[in-house]
Amino acid sequence: MSVIDDLSRMASHMIEGVMIHEQLMNVYLFIGLYGEAAKHKSHYIAESQNYADLCEYCMKVYGVLVNASIKSAAIPSLIPKSWLSSSQLDLDYETRIEILKSADNEWIDWETKTLDLYNEIYSHLITTSCSSSSEFVKKYILEVENEVIEARREKLEHSAVNYDMSFIMERQKKRERSYNKEIK
Ligand SMILES: [Fe+2]
Repeated sequence: MSVIDDLSRMASHMIEGVMIHEQLMNVYLFIGLYGEAAKHKSHYIAESQNYADLCEYCMKVYGVLVNASIKSAAIPSLIPKSWLSSSQLDLDYETRIEILKSADNEWIDWETKTLDLYNEIYSHLITTSCSSSSEFVKKYILEVENEVIEARREKLEHSAVNYDMSFIMERQKKRERSYNKEIK
């Protein structure tokens, strides 16, 4: 497997990651957690930028296009079709909690999978003596490590209050303001 194959694998995964954040943003908007939604919007923007940077790196350093491809079966699907005909006001309390629990797990699972893949690509680049590209990949590994920590902390915070929506809702405005400030 060449360095371009490695980087293309990473690029494909990045596109899926961007789609995951777009869907998580919509999930949180649907259950009325606008602060969490703003956080995923911020990841969506930052990770789109990462993907663009990877394409640029590949072209400028190796003179070739990244060959990112997404199999339709791999397209993340966190939003059931039935939601498209519902309003957020139709959701009852228990359903919102169930959705929140499953979104917490989806985020942790995805970022853990991402960290494993990037580490695998990094190790492969090291063994094939592509040290400059391995350094390029390393900065993404550090970002994902932080994201795994962030996702786990999120779940721990929700579990700590036993998924009490009144408590979780209370901090949304502050979070929304803070992430929106970060985005601008
Ligand atoms: Fe992410």
